[in-house]
Amino acid sequence: MNITIDGQQVQVPGESTILEAARSIGIKIPTLCYHPEYKPEGSCRICLVEVEGARSLVASCVFPVSEGMVVKTNTPNVREGRKTVVELLLANHPEDCLSCQRNLHCELQKIAADCGIRKVRFDGEKKNYRLDADNPALVRDQNKCILCGRCIRACSELQGVNVYTFANRGFHTTVAPAFNAGLHEAACTFCGQCANVCPTAAIVEKDDTKEVWAALNDPAKHVVVQTAPAVRVA
Ligand code: FES
Repeated sequence: MNITIDGQQVQVPGESTILEAARSIGIKIPTLCYHPEYKPEGSCRICLVEVEGARSLVASCVFPVSEGMVVKTNTPNVREGRKTVVELLLANHPEDCLSCQRNLHCELQKIAADCGIRKVRFDGEKKNYRLDADNPALVRDQNKCILCGRCIRACSELQGVNVYTFANRGFHTTVAPAFNAGLHEAACTFCGQCANVCPTAAIVEKDDTKEVWAALNDPAKHVVVQTAPAVRVA
């Protein structure tokens, strides 16, 4: 297919999406729910672009290319659309970035900064779910979940374990093991793939560095960790 993106002509295979076509010529479109390893879902709408002739902005990660298509990825309309989507996500997100485990490694935080968001225009009810940390490896904080579904796809498509699913509807939609069980009650193998693909800190590995360090240095266990001597640089 021959299409034009931001004035550049590109030829791509017929089954490509706009996002794939744009990335093939180095045009950057932000994404959250999209992950190159898994089937695209088109749920977050961060990847909005303008297509000539279309009545509204389209999600480029799921929109297929067609012959002669003309796409614009960086118009004021597109930028405003993406900004609104991010603001709506942030309106219902804990404001604890500075103490969050993913601070500076959070995809939502980065996209918000790229969109120039300094203040969220929307305010509303906040989620208030209990932290799921009753297992040896992972911490699940549904208050930070943006419902991108990447963990669901990693757990099912990659690992074949199928622990996670969407539960409930509307504002109360969550991603959780069946019957809203904790991970320690589910068939989770604690492989960590869900934490690996989570764009925020909704699922993170347990940070037990302090406990492990203390246990290793416990004289009762006769294991003492020696740190390397400091090297003086002249
Ligand atoms: Fe396209 Fe989420 S990245 S809809």
